Amino acid sequence: MSNAYAQRGVVVLTGAGISAESGLGTFRDVDGIWTKYPLEDLATPEGFARNPEFVQGFYNARRAQLKTSRPNAAHLALSELEAALQAAGRRFTLITQNVDHLHEQAGSQNVLHMHGELLKVRCEACRGVVRWPDDIGVRTPCPTCEAVGLMRPHVVWFGEMPLYMDEIETELARADLFVSIGTSGNVYPAAGFVQLARRAGARTLELNLEPSDGASFFDEARYGKASELVPDWASEIMRRL
Ligand code: APR
Repeated sequence: MSNAYAQRGVVVLTGAGISAESGLGTFRDVDGIWTKYPLEDLATPEGFARNPEFVQGFYNARRAQLKTSRPNAAHLALSELEAALQAAGRRFTLITQNVDHLHEQAGSQNVLHMHGELLKVRCEACRGVVRWPDDIGVRTPCPTCEAVGLMRPHVVWFGEMPLYMDEIETELARADLFVSIGTSGNVYPAAGFVQLARRAGARTLELNLEPSDGASFFDEARYGKASELVPDWASEIMRRL
């Protein structure tokens, strides 16, 4: 891939596949989270209203996993690339569908968590969002407005609006390189970002374990493990800065 495609800006989108080698589950692989749990009950506002205890317990367990998970070589490579591109005066935007904080732990500075963050909770009364590394329950009072029983994971569920969409669309419209890493291309609007990037004239690259549902939209694709593919690709870009 010519490095001419990193003049205006690089936009990277990551999915659960980048965190798989850090021990966090993906959703649609064999043994994926949604093959074991009903997504309607755990990732929709209706499911939460039906059984808040069940939903809080599910996210508490995933939040607890973060205490022992660590970034892998793919997260670290993206953090290094961000610093190198910024030092070279180039724009770099990291969008993630993941709710873990492994990009931040790897040193990435400006991470757009379009599906929210597991380490934050939100009060449905005052809308306050607070950092929360431990369990929450159905009677946890809001630390801001003290309302009881209205705290929920700060995670975007199906049927809810993803976050940072204005900023994401602005960056996609100005990028000349879009790279999708570790996502099955199943969930919109993220699955449509490659087409927005193409419309803006960007070159597009998919780095994944296997062809995603959107594979045909990419100019180039490399298949394998993120911990191998991402450092190699990042080095290619950095070598030519
Ligand atoms: N390296 C690279 N890719 C991998 C690896 C790996 N080690 N392991 C798995 N993958 C790939 C899989 O081949 C798959 O294409 O990562 C992708 C994971 O796809 P999904 O499980 O569908 O996860 P994702 O695309 O992030 O899901 C999007 O769906 O349920 C919602 O909100 C949830 O953010 C999530 C969204």
